[in-house]
Amino acid sequence: MYHKKLKPFPKDFLWGASTSAYQVEGAYNEDGKGMSVIDMGKHPEGTTDFKVASDHYHHYKEDIALFAEMGFKAYRFSIAWTRIFPEGTGEVNPKGIAFYNDLINELISHNIEPIVTMYHFDLPYALQQKGGWSNRETIDAFENYARTLFLNFGDRVKYWLTINEQNMMILHGAAIGIVDKNVKNIEKELYQQNHNMFLAQAKAMKLCHELCPNAKIGPAPNISAIYPASSKPEDVLAAANLSSIRNWLYLDMAVFGRYNSKAWSYLEEKGYTPEIKDGDMEILKGANPDFIAFNYYSTSTVAESKNDEWDKTSIGDQQIVIGEQGVYRGVKNPYLEKTQFGWEIDPVGFRNTLCEMNERYNLPLLVTENGLGAFDKLEEGDVVNDDYRIDFLRKHIEQAQLAITDGVKLIGYCPWSAIDLVSTHQGFAKRYGFIYVNRDEFDLKDLRRIRKKSFYWYKKVISTNGEDLK
Ligand code: BG6
Repeated sequence: MYHKKLKPFPKDFLWGASTSAYQVEGAYNEDGKGMSVIDMGKHPEGTTDFKVASDHYHHYKEDIALFAEMGFKAYRFSIAWTRIFPEGTGEVNPKGIAFYNDLINELISHNIEPIVTMYHFDLPYALQQKGGWSNRETIDAFENYARTLFLNFGDRVKYWLTINEQNMMILHGAAIGIVDKNVKNIEKELYQQNHNMFLAQAKAMKLCHELCPNAKIGPAPNISAIYPASSKPEDVLAAANLSSIRNWLYLDMAVFGRYNSKAWSYLEEKGYTPEIKDGDMEILKGANPDFIAFNYYSTSTVAESKNDEWDKTSIGDQQIVIGEQGVYRGVKNPYLEKTQFGWEIDPVGFRNTLCEMNERYNLPLLVTENGLGAFDKLEEGDVVNDDYRIDFLRKHIEQAQLAITDGVKLIGYCPWSAIDLVSTHQGFAKRYGFIYVNRDEFDLKDLRRIRKKSFYWYKKVISTNGEDLK
């Protein structure tokens, strides 16, 4: 729809940016931190591990000062479960509590709203050894961890996110590096884990409302509009299939506490249905999110499945959809350009996604990731001319404003990432930040912080509340 006049971004709009603990902090074994599945996992050859990352653990004050200089109203970060409970459960590590207390206080002293993700891919390894999310004891461990977070930080944290991209952990866990693809019956196992994570999330949401009545909590999946390759009815059906399995399965459960019928029928067809114990559905129905946080990078385009083996040729990654036999087949969208890493760039798809979620759930929406991974180049005089990133973000923010004018209740925009950090599976060379961190894949150099061109641009965007996007 064309609008004669655009609505402005709300006055208290949460402009900010995001990171996650294991990708930015480093200090992987300091101050009592336990090992996570990431610390113990393999990372692709030719890419760095996560031991030092951007060393934010030691640079957090300097980093937050830079966020404040950009004018951030909010900062979305995750807490490393293994800093709080080195073994996932049991004794609390006081130094872990102290670190996040300091971080939160530092943000608040700069008038930056902390937005906390409770779990972002880094499950404690001790829990993994006991079966991880396949073991229902992990649900209790998560609830206990959530209680500890609410009791220690709930007096200052008003926005909580439960689990980052649960859908990507289930659909692309091997690409992200958190699932061993050699496990037998992997999909069946994963959908059991999925069910258990849903329960853990529901319990955390309920607990948050009990312990922190003034706080808000929501899920944080990766959501993207799915297009049919053509107007052929079979292609349209395939797009709806993928959307039910990839998007709505996760949000219908978080919001309504139910498996949507198409996703359930898919699980039945494939033999992946999880075991649901007595009382589970009541727990799932008994939790209500206050808002939906979501990560958006791209859209997917699919055609009807030919029901042959072709779809099994590759696993893809979070944003590269290949297909699934009998369900859908990923195709290239001829209207979209791609990033250097092959992710399709679709700002209008961002508006589509926002509007679709608004129609379906009618809840406030918070963008917790969106951004461009690129090979940035540090030039003479500490200059990084990342015009491509500015262009990407500008176009998405324009579409966000159009979506607000369409009636979407968007409360904030926190792109990925506040500062350079390690990508999930493509190393440090794939940079997303407004702040350049002076290190290479394997050479840590001096880890100096350098303002990119996008830093100055975003500062102006925030100071004008999204009016000046030039
Ligand atoms: C999301 C994750 O999938 O995308 C982040 O929540 C991740 O952790 C981001 O870094 C970008 O993906 P990648 O693979 O380029 O790091």
